[in-house]
Amino acid sequence: MTGELTWSPAATDAEVGSALTTAFAQEFGGEPDGVWAAPGRVNLIGEHTDYNGGWCLPFALAHRTYCAARPREDGRLRVASRQAPGHTWEGEVGEITAGAPGGWVAYVAGVAAVLGERVGPEALGADILVDGHVPLGAGLSSSAALSCSSALALHDLVPELAGVDRAALAEACVRAENDYAGAATGGMDQSVSLRAVDEHALLIDCRDFSLTPVAWTLPEHEVLVIDTRAHHSLADGQYAARRSACERACRTLGVGSLREVHGREVEDVLAALSGDGEAVRRVRHVLTENTRVLDLVGALAEREADEVGRLMVASHVSLRDDYEVSCRELDLAVDAALAAGATGARMTGGGFGGSAIALVARDAVDEVAQAVHAAFVDAGLEAPHFLHATPSAPAHRVS
Ligand code: GLA
Repeated sequence: MTGELTWSPAATDAEVGSALTTAFAQEFGGEPDGVWAAPGRVNLIGEHTDYNGGWCLPFALAHRTYCAARPREDGRLRVASRQAPGHTWEGEVGEITAGAPGGWVAYVAGVAAVLGERVGPEALGADILVDGHVPLGAGLSSSAALSCSSALALHDLVPELAGVDRAALAEACVRAENDYAGAATGGMDQSVSLRAVDEHALLIDCRDFSLTPVAWTLPEHEVLVIDTRAHHSLADGQYAARRSACERACRTLGVGSLREVHGREVEDVLAALSGDGEAVRRVRHVLTENTRVLDLVGALAEREADEVGRLMVASHVSLRDDYEVSCRELDLAVDAALAAGATGARMTGGGFGGSAIALVARDAVDEVAQAVHAAFVDAGLEAPHFLHATPSAPAHRVS
């Protein structure tokens, strides 16, 4: 007996919006001016390429974080969350600093502080109630969904921010996460959350964050998300270590970013790094991953599901062996999905736990999920959770 499968369905805007409006009245009194939503994401391919000026191909999930918000005249911010009852934070926007407030509030407060640099902190006063429907700690960018939903709410509430476009809002969210929440992030998550195109994946060129929507051409296939429920505490330090190995390689190569050597023979680039085995492995991943992203876009255009799957698996192997950011649970999810007939599978996001994705023929989704579940139970691991991932809309105002 292996127990039931657990699915994490997406909530609808209408049901969350009206419940959140009621909860706002209970928390703060009165009505919010509106409710805003921003999605989590999966990344089809292009992992650990964003901070190297490369390409990635995420899409927005239908799973969103919601914010009910109302402006205040006094430059103060009050932040509460339906996931943290009794922990309302209140303070002056002008007094928000790195790490104070800390925890999840920093993602909202950090956005207010960064946007406040443009128009003065006193303009950013607001009451904000958050309701997160992106699974937490699943590597699906619940944190970007939080920063992006509050950024869009503040943008729409504060007239002085009218000229700030979504690219600039995404940049503000990256700064809020890096500088105020102390979370290293490279920009992919915030870009897709704010700038996704419904029913498309988003090819992001992280040299300048320009975007190309990529149609999902495989209607017979679905992207199944396997949330392994594993969160390894070494993730943050390891993310920073990967970034610094790439920066060291850039210094040795005399370039500002690994993007500058895209198109050169990989072996020639690696030869210039010989003697630094770690840099060789990391750079080999980044350079080959960039090529895989562009190849996968081509395979999608040609509707070649098998080729898409092959590239996903190659990405996983490279992340596992060269970038060394996978873990037992992610490898098991990928191997079990492939053994059960998935067309492709790979870890998605930063790694060290979180989620894997599998490209699966629609009529085989339940079977693959069942097989992955059984493999986890057999291995004595906590049962994974599953999500149906459909390329969905960017951040938007709900009401
Ligand atoms: C995390 C970061 C992103 C990106 C991925 C790895 O999700 O927030 O910016 O670097 O890891 O691709």
